[in-house]
Parts: sequence; structure tokens; C-alpha cells
Amino acid sequence: MTKEEIILANKEFLFPAVFHFFKEPLVVARAKDQYVWDADGNQYLDFLGGIVTVSVGHCNDQINAKVHQQLDTLQHASTLFANEPQAALAKKIASVTPGGKLTKSFFTNSGTEANETAILTARCYTGNTEIVALRHSYHGRSAMAMALTGQGTWRLGPPAAGVVHAHNAYCYRCPFGLTYPECDVACARDVEDLIRTTTGGRIAAFIAEPIQGVGGFVTPPKEYFPIIEKIVRNHGGIWISDEVQTGWGRTGGKWFGIEQWGVTPDIITSAKGLGNGSPIGLTVAKPEVADAVKGATISTFGGNPVTATAAKAVIDFIEEQNLMANCTETGGYLRSRLEELKDKHELIGDVRGMGLMQAIELVEDRETKKPATVQTAMLLEAARENRVLMGKGGMFGNVIRLTPPMNIGRGDVDQFIEQLDKSLVACSAMAGSAR
Ligand SMILES: Cc1ncc(COP(=O)(O)O)c(C=O)c1O
Repeated sequence: MTKEEIILANKEFLFPAVFHFFKEPLVVARAKDQYVWDADGNQYLDFLGGIVTVSVGHCNDQINAKVHQQLDTLQHASTLFANEPQAALAKKIASVTPGGKLTKSFFTNSGTEANETAILTARCYTGNTEIVALRHSYHGRSAMAMALTGQGTWRLGPPAAGVVHAHNAYCYRCPFGLTYPECDVACARDVEDLIRTTTGGRIAAFIAEPIQGVGGFVTPPKEYFPIIEKIVRNHGGIWISDEVQTGWGRTGGKWFGIEQWGVTPDIITSAKGLGNGSPIGLTVAKPEVADAVKGATISTFGGNPVTATAAKAVIDFIEEQNLMANCTETGGYLRSRLEELKDKHELIGDVRGMGLMQAIELVEDRETKKPATVQTAMLLEAARENRVLMGKGGMFGNVIRLTPPMNIGRGDVDQFIEQLDKSLVACSAMAGSAR
């Protein structure tokens, strides 16, 4: 198919809900390591990583060699049959969860399913039904996952019942109009009032992303989650950490984002970067929590031998290459270079994130903080012209999200910053002429 035929077939044969970032869809043809090539042969430096999924580089040789071998040995089994790749992956995961305390896994195909499984498990374990999630969160696209999600854009259709939403710790736009640390982390303390007033008082779980991904890399102050943990446990709830974006070392120095905040979760969910492109969902829980799910449940593709092989190879690769340290080191460097750009470009209102999960929030005016939504779309287009790929997010579509593969180096950051700088200049010129 030609590029034009692909775009046309997309329009004709896919749900229109399948949308693209750019005015003219980018047709990707192939990818290797930190690079992606389009149908015209143009090369892009990928700082989006297929939405935080390409954790160790596109078509990673070491991962793919193992995948190819497994593909020719045993491709499918289902959860009905024991197989080595699933067993080996579950054993490996148990060894890297916080304190080695979460040891029982259930595998599915996506982050959405991982969260569905987590909510079911929390309800079985506690006997309670109500869930506290966060505003600005994103947890997937099933009826339950959309109900958990705290962004109107991503909540289609009638939501599942039994979910209330607490304030997130969005310090740049504090929901209480306060400033940290004088605020005394009022957003966290408000969870007590939320549970008392909008639930029956006994909850099944609190679910949160340690750093909100789609929400625009909203990063809480260190006291936020520990304060909420006490409240949640006092009301009978357990802790679900949605690590679909923050897992596997991305935040730097630790396997999971929640470990940055000193809270030990009862359940962790993951997907995306665990498979480096192979579709996988993981729900891993403390044994007593997992054991509460009585009766039978099946996932046809859960623990699929090929995806399980890929996921185990990804974890091994992260460990062997010490990528958690690289996320701290190279992520810290990326952060400092973004701060430099903030000094130069008025459009950048905030820089935030952790490790190799960094974002810039764009504003029209630093005083009013009016979201620069149009300019953000323009910046993405300009970056495309300059051959770099980046993500977009935030409640107002004004946050640029940067999540390159975790095995990039300083040279890649320098190359990226140079192109982002040029794109910001081009974007300001475009915005100026559009006025
Ligand atoms: C934090 C988080 N949870 C869950 C999901 C849903 O994952 P999936 O798209 O694999 O269903 C996403 C997807 O972006 C996510 O970012």
C-alpha cells in the first residue's frame, strides 16, 4: 500500500474514534532502537516511545532473538495450561516487587484489563465495593477503567458505579489555590472528607498512578501519598498502584514509581513498557489479596508464552544494563536541559516529572497560566518537521510528555533538545503570525 492508500483505508475502515496527533497522519514504516522511520523514509528521534511502551528500544535485538525462538517453540497455551515462560515471568516479577511482598501475578493483554482485575481483587479481598481514584487520572477504556479515569475526555458512555474521585496534587494549578508547603498538603487531607461524605465509609481500594501519565506527568509532593495511605487503610481500603507508565525503572533508581513515595502497595498493575511492544497486562498482588479471588477466571491470551518471554527478557535487559540508574542519570540531564529551555522560552510554564518521564506544560502567559493548547498542537507539528516525536497530554492538551526508551544516552538528549529548541522558536513564530 502507498502512504496515501494507508491513510485512506484508515479513514474508511477504522472507527473514527481512532485519532492521530498530526494534521496529516504520520505513517510509520519501521523502527530500530531510538529511531522511527516514516513511509517517506524520514528518520525521527523517538521521545514518545510508542506512548511509554518502547522501554528498551524498538525491535531490541536481545529481546527479539528470544521472542523469535519462543514463537517457533510454543506460541499459545492460554491460562488453562502451565508453561515455562509464564512461570518464569511470574517468578521474576515476584522478586522485584517492593520488599518482595507482591508475589502472585495474573496476566492479561492490556493496562485496562490489569486494572479491571485489580478492582475485582480488591473487592473480593475487602468485601467492600467503593473505590477512590484521582482526578486527572487515566486507567483505561473498559466501563470500569473509564469510571476510574478522572478526565472527561476519556470517559465515554455510562460509567460503572462505585467510584469517587479525590483531588490530585497538581501543585502548578492547586485545586485549593494554595502553595506547597504552606498548604499542609490539603489535597491529601481532603481524602478523609471525601470518603466520609461520598462513600459509605468503608472502601475497597484507592487506585492511583504514582505520577499521572495521560494527566500530564502531575508529580505529587513527597507527603501526599503517605498521608492518603493512612486515611485509606483507616477506612478498610487497600492500595492499588497503577504502574502502567511509571513501572520498570522509568522514574529512576527503583523498579516502581510508588517506591519513590515510601508506600507499599497491595496490588500493582502494569502493561506497556513491560512488553516493549508485545501486548501484556499484569496484576500482581500480595498472596493473601490474590488468594481472595475465589472461583475460576480465564484469560485466553493471559501469560501467552511469546509475550511472557518478551516481558521476562525486558526485565532481564533492564537489570543487566542497569537502566534504572540510567533513568536517574540521563533523566536528570534531560530535566536540566528542559529547565534551560524554560529560561529561554516564555511558553514553558512548568517542567516536571522524574527520571526519564519528564514533561513541559505550555502556557500563553506565565502569570495567568492560561493553557497554550493551540500552541502545543503547533509545537508537535513543528517537532515533526524537525524529526523528533513527543507525546501530548494534560487536562487542557497543553503538556508535552517525554518518555524515550530507557537506554538512551546524553547524546540523544542533546540532539533532542536542539530540535525542541528549534521547534519552540518555529512554534512561537507560527503562533505570532496566527494572531
Ligand atoms: C496509567 C495507565 N493505566 C492504564 C492504561 C490503559 O492501558 P491500555 O491502553 O494498555 O489498556 C494506560 C494507558 O495509557 C495508562 O496510561
